[in-house]
Amino acid sequence: MTDVYLQEVCPRDGLQIESVILPTDDKVRLIDSLSQTGFSRIEVSSFVSPKAVPALADAAEVFARITRVPSVTYVALVPNRKGAERAIEAEADELNMVASVSRTHNLANMRMTTEESFLGFSQIARLTLDAKRLLNGTIATAFGCPFEGAQSEVEVLELVGRYRELGCTGITLADTTGMANPRQVTRLVGAALSLVGPEALTLHFHNTRGLGLANVVAAFQAGARRFDAALGGLGGCPFAPGASGNIATEDTAAMFEEMGVPTGLDLRTLLSLSHGLPTLVGHDVPGQVVKAGLVGDLHPAPI
Ligand code: COA
Ligand code: ZN
Repeated sequence: MTDVYLQEVCPRDGLQIESVILPTDDKVRLIDSLSQTGFSRIEVSSFVSPKAVPALADAAEVFARITRVPSVTYVALVPNRKGAERAIEAEADELNMVASVSRTHNLANMRMTTEESFLGFSQIARLTLDAKRLLNGTIATAFGCPFEGAQSEVEVLELVGRYRELGCTGITLADTTGMANPRQVTRLVGAALSLVGPEALTLHFHNTRGLGLANVVAAFQAGARRFDAALGGLGGCPFAPGASGNIATEDTAAMFEEMGVPTGLDLRTLLSLSHGLPTLVGHDVPGQVVKAGLVGDLHPAPI
């Protein structure tokens, strides 16, 4: 039994900000390994402008080459109609539309206003639902914006409502640059859960200020059950100053398992995949359990 769902975003959020572009072969191998560890949802790539995010320019090829496990939903991030057409063509199971509550961040990230993003989303929703794919709506900077600071919770909740009206089966509240704190999370998650059920709500936290797992616990206690996380704690938005990694999947899974909350994930396999990440990306990664070991990994007594 799984009480909490961790959704792997390393192949998309994790790799989009890396300066070294991973060869397609390595991405396919990584996603195929992740498919074997018990995830219900893996975000594979983005169908965005290759000029904006060169690291994910091979999205179609990655989708074509991965070995799909039937129990896994393979997700593609899309910013506009062109991205949606490409994602449907690539047979993504779910399209994830992203807009920021902060107008300034949306302009930096998508080169259009939040309103303009939503105009395009009506077309994307029609295409996606006609193609019988799942549709998720992400609200970026939901807990604060690196340009504008605090964001209106009323506006965040309005966007939740707009996504629902478009037919989104899932809604994600994203803390793009790790500005959330646990009390704020308790409040906003509580309010969001009065609009959508826990099966439809995902929290997407970044550990930029070290509060990632504190925010996960606050959201969990407020009733949230779905969390995005990236293997090794890689990740970040290339268009948000100071962005850094997502919460690390293996650290989050280890925490929940220690708390007695089953994740359905094969923790040892995740740790071994995380162990291989520095070789893939060419630098150390933030995940901590892979360095410290699991709580149960005891050391011989020093005699
Ligand atoms: N996929 C591939 N190419 C795309 C595209 C898509 N989804 N959308 C636009 N393009 C191409 C256009 O065809 C055009 O190509 P050309 O120069 O060869 O003619 C070029 O990109 C510019 O198109 P335009 O519609 O003017 O886009 P833009 O320059 O205003 O950029 C976005 C808008 C949304 C496409 C771009 O800002 C983007 O991809 N942002 C994503 C950022 C991101 O992934 N952030 C992190 C995740 S939240
Ligand atoms: Zn992110």
